[in-house]
Amino acid sequence: MNLKGKTILITGGASGIGFEAAKKFLAIGAKVIITGRNQAKLDAAKKELPSIITIQSDAGKEADAQALLNTVKVLGGIDILYNNAGVLVPPLNLGIPNAKHLEGAAYEMEVNYLGVIRLNNIFLDMLTSRNEAAIINTTSILSMTPSLIEATYSSSKTALAFYTVSLREHLRIIGSKVKIFELIPPLVATEMTADRNDKKISSQEMVKGLINGLSKNHYTIRVGDSKIFNFINRFFPGIAFNIINPKQNHQLLKN
Ligand SMILES: NC(=O)c1ccc[n+]([C@@H]2O[C@H](COP(=O)([O-])OP(=O)(O)OC[C@H]3O[C@@H](n4cnc5c(N)ncnc54)[C@H](OP(=O)(O)O)[C@@H]3O)[C@@H](O)[C@H]2O)c1
Repeated sequence: MNLKGKTILITGGASGIGFEAAKKFLAIGAKVIITGRNQAKLDAAKKELPSIITIQSDAGKEADAQALLNTVKVLGGIDILYNNAGVLVPPLNLGIPNAKHLEGAAYEMEVNYLGVIRLNNIFLDMLTSRNEAAIINTTSILSMTPSLIEATYSSSKTALAFYTVSLREHLRIIGSKVKIFELIPPLVATEMTADRNDKKISSQEMVKGLINGLSKNHYTIRVGDSKIFNFINRFFPGIAFNIINPKQNHQLLKN
């Protein structure tokens, strides 16, 4: 799809992959609106990219979603809804059988899964009215294979991945022309992964892959190791499981 001249709403766009995408979309000639919970982060993003529009909005809250829709309508609407906001509740000190663990899992589902469905539902009429429109849902390499140390996060991304495939097929069957993309990042160097020492790609490389996929209408966009990992997971699921869950992580689970 063509990004030039489009208006793109990026949830959680003030930092990380979303902010890098905002920069590149602007450079291509798109109009960009970003959201986030933290006003100071939004202000800093606006200072660096004066032409972006910032809206404080929590992707996990119903009231914020409705208010966001109303504000975006006043601004003239959007062509692309890029669901980027996501949370990973640090799980290492949360033994499975405790209330904190459940609380973290519920929050991840609220933002990573239910929040995306809610925004897609309320923006779909607007997107349908556009000449060329799309939704981008951000899952993860961990949606393919469970990560024992991020069990509830990877489950929330698997739920989102299944929903995304269903949404795409449902819209195709009813003849909708809204394109549904799934973005599957590998490990990317951002705030979210700051405490991880494993191999990471930069957010620049990540966004290059995203833009390449969008421009070629590749509805499932795998970037970096997500490509080879998809192959390994399909044909050698045991090996894939061990790649995501190396032996040294077992010790973390015992602590
Ligand atoms: N980094 C990776 O290795 C990796 C791998 C696979 C998938 N992903 C996915 O890629 C997406 C972006 O990740 P990232 O690494 O860029 O994360 P990040 O560095 O933690 O940035 C996330 C951004 O989302 C915003 N955000 C978080 N919760 C929000 C909410 N409820 N409502 C609105 N904004 C919210 C944050 O700003 P505020 O705090 O101001 O709200 C922040 O700007 C996420 O969906 C993540 O799950 C990342």
